[in-house]
Amino acid sequence: MDIVLGLQWGDEGKGKFIDLISEDYDITARFNGGANAGHSIERNGKRITLKSLPSGIFMKDVQNVIGTGTVLDPVSFRNEILNLQKFDGSLEPEKNLVISQKAHLVLPTHRLLDVFMEENPDYTTIGTTKNGIAQAYSNKILRQNLRVGDIESPDFKNRVIHILERGYRFLAGGDRVLPSLEEISSEFFEAIDFLKTFKRTETEIFLNKALSEGKKVLAEGSQAAMLDIDHGTYPYVTSSSTTAAGASSGLGISPKKVGEIFGIAKAYCTRVGNGIFPTELFDQAGEEIRDKGHEFGSNTGRPRRIGWLDLPALRYAIMINGVTQVILTKADILSGMKSVAVCTHYELEDGTLEMTAGTLPENARPVLKTLEGWEGDISTLKNAFELPEKLKDFLFFLNNELGVPVTYLSTGPGRQQILKLN
Ligand code: GTP
Repeated sequence: MDIVLGLQWGDEGKGKFIDLISEDYDITARFNGGANAGHSIERNGKRITLKSLPSGIFMKDVQNVIGTGTVLDPVSFRNEILNLQKFDGSLEPEKNLVISQKAHLVLPTHRLLDVFMEENPDYTTIGTTKNGIAQAYSNKILRQNLRVGDIESPDFKNRVIHILERGYRFLAGGDRVLPSLEEISSEFFEAIDFLKTFKRTETEIFLNKALSEGKKVLAEGSQAAMLDIDHGTYPYVTSSSTTAAGASSGLGISPKKVGEIFGIAKAYCTRVGNGIFPTELFDQAGEEIRDKGHEFGSNTGRPRRIGWLDLPALRYAIMINGVTQVILTKADILSGMKSVAVCTHYELEDGTLEMTAGTLPENARPVLKTLEGWEGDISTLKNAFELPEKLKDFLFFLNNELGVPVTYLSTGPGRQQILKLN
């Protein structure tokens, strides 16, 4: 099994790379997160954003797995499938998608509770996508949740209603206006009937059997290393395991069976929501990158925060994931800038930090190295030799600093806009 994952705070462009390489695999599998992901993919000049679906869904010969480590929102799932079929009417996802019986369900009250917590000053505001993901995961940990396999159980409806009523009792009061319970439950049960038309199985057995038959599996990470629940910039993180270890755990595949680990990083940094971001830019350069790079949330439209590339954080992400290859995206967005900067290390009162472990001491100061920018439109280049010399210098510098080769350079959003390096 090979793994693709984000090395920063998400939105690195994983979708495009996964879409590109998934042709070489028999199975693509999602191992974490839910409808809070937003892999954007461009096909035949049209763009679609996948939330819970693996990227191999566009290829009829590729099987796709929604794995055990994920949380599945049936309502959002139905909308996503309908949207997919609008995008390409020839796709038949009921034929090439398998869902884990053990994936947890996101219930309608999880969304409502998410909104409640995000808007209530008694709680830390994380800046979530308000999709109820954290609520579903926390109920999983509390052992109070329902799983995909439960939908066949005769008392499923009663159990759902019990959980919804419990949520409504908690949310009652104040001047909150809630949708009617009947409304949300009937929408939910309709979506459950839709979900029942898809294959559901013990995906651990399905995947391990496929591996033992020599099939190739690609595990697709959503969010990114610095948002990992354990290793990221807590509490401003996502609620799942986003790392390579999370792929093993979320799919039930032994770490011994992992081969390549592709880490995706942008040539600069972005983050959505709150939390530490030491290289954040508040000036014209930041504005320019945001506008040119269309750095607005693919599901929420929220402007992303922009910063220079943070090597100490990247080194950490490479280390905890055992990354074997780095794929650098969006270098085209920096084209035309007079100079670009990179944070090489942090300065402390009593020393320096070459690597940041998801937290930073209060007084740490990012030390930036400024490199000369590059000119020209790189998005049409067909060969890495044609890259501007200054961009080659930038890549050479990164290779030295990271200790892991940058093997691909993505030069635009399109499928063909990627160059193999070396
Ligand atoms: P999450 O799973 O939500 O973290 O998303 P992601 O990592 O798949 O990234 P997402 O698709 O949300 O955002 C990347 C955006 O950048 C998409 O619109 C891509 O089409 C686009 N993109 C990807 N690579 C490049 C690139 O090299 N250059 C440019 N200009 N755009 C790119």
